[in-house]
Amino acid sequence: MMKSLFGKIFLWFWLTSILLTVASVFIAVFLTGTPVLRQWASNFGDLYSRNVVQSYLLGGDAGLDQFLTSTEQAREIQTTLFGPDGERIRGGALTPFQQGLLEEARASGRTECRIRLAWQCAAVVDTPRGKFVVVGRALHPRRMVRQLPLSAVLTRAMLILLFASGLCFALARYIARPVEVLQHATRRIAAGDLSARAAPALAPRKDELVSLAEEFDVMAARIEALMQSQRQMLGDISHELRSPLTRLRVALELAEGGDAEAMKRMNADLQKLEQLIEQVLTLNRLDAGEKWVELQSTNLETVLSEVVRDANYEGRARNVSVELKAEPLTIKANPALLKSCVENIVRNALRYSPDNGRVEVEERAVSDSTGRVGHPQWVEIRVRDHGPGVPPEALPRLFEPFYRVAESRSEKSGGRGLGLSIAQRAAAVHGGTVEAKNREGGGLEVLVKLPVRS
Ligand SMILES: Nc1ncnc2c1ncn2[C@@H]1O[C@H](COP(=O)(O)OP(=O)(O)O)[C@@H](O)[C@H]1O
Ligand SMILES: [Mg+2]
Repeated sequence: MMKSLFGKIFLWFWLTSILLTVASVFIAVFLTGTPVLRQWASNFGDLYSRNVVQSYLLGGDAGLDQFLTSTEQAREIQTTLFGPDGERIRGGALTPFQQGLLEEARASGRTECRIRLAWQCAAVVDTPRGKFVVVGRALHPRRMVRQLPLSAVLTRAMLILLFASGLCFALARYIARPVEVLQHATRRIAAGDLSARAAPALAPRKDELVSLAEEFDVMAARIEALMQSQRQMLGDISHELRSPLTRLRVALELAEGGDAEAMKRMNADLQKLEQLIEQVLTLNRLDAGEKWVELQSTNLETVLSEVVRDANYEGRARNVSVELKAEPLTIKANPALLKSCVENIVRNALRYSPDNGRVEVEERAVSDSTGRVGHPQWVEIRVRDHGPGVPPEALPRLFEPFYRVAESRSEKSGGRGLGLSIAQRAAAVHGGTVEAKNREGGGLEVLVKLPVRS
């Protein structure tokens, strides 16, 4: 039990509460004025004396006789009663010790008791007929002890102990439970069950331990999603590799049969394969994160005009023109990655533009409301086309690897759905973002936001 957190907390709180109880009882009994036993004896003596006087006042000698002989308590106590004028009404002469006790009681006005050698009490009882005095001596002090409410005290102590144990148990469980739940979830994850979560088992509780469980769940969810996307990616790659390979085999057989066309197709398929593998490798490298990317001062306008020049060259066949609006801006970036980011987006715009269409590329610096004038914190690169745009439900998925809108999939000329995911990750390693939205007048607008870092 001491090895578990629950056991430790329980034991410590339990011991503490018991020690505290014992200590407070000790203080109450021994360090404050009246010892409990004497207090009890005094209360008892007080009550007894009143009864004696009462029975005398009500029934005279006969009433007193009746009380002293028929009451069990009274038979155990040797009783002396003095009247208001000091005359002895009942009992024998007082011993010097009793005399002293009587003087004390008279002086203090309270019931005085001594319980050391024998149990003796002296009490002054005020009545309308004057002050009576009762002096009593227990004939069998041991029997008196038995009348002490010890059992009641013990039951009360047991009850307190039980109550304290219950509280300690509840407290220990309360503290240790999130830890147990977390431990359980961790074990399940370690055993390969990535769907294990901790926080739901603790709802609706809220505290630091539950926050810890929630953060654990976020971590677990992230790992699960990552594993899932890796698996998906592997499947997609294999799938994409299979069809060109099948075509290559068919073409190879045709070429063996002397088909010259087949050689050309083989070449094209090999090129596609090469491109695909290149893209997958790029994506993989970008996923590894920022630390592998070398940044240098890069003139954004130069990169953009290179991309636009190439795109214009490609667009000539369908008379699509690409226009650039840019101002000279230098940012910390990796020129090759930046170029491939913009290139992938501009290529798409070009591909989905209608013949004789126009693509606009615009670059501008923006500063936050907090930014000092003339010190841009962000650059925005917008690429707009006049094509069909994408269905709204597809917008959030455009940046997933291998995702293509259904219509593009049947299109032979289409890519493999890696372009935008590469663009997004390339922006991400620069600390930037890429978003896409449909334009009001038709066509897609893709916005790249990059931080300006010096
Ligand atoms: N400018 C655009 N206009 C319309 N659809 C687009 C545009 N850009 C991208 N898309 C859609 O987004 C999908 C993903 O784009 P991308 O990742 O570049 O893959 P790919 O170009 O290889 O198909 C495309 O298949 C296409 O359906
Ligand atoms: Mg593309």
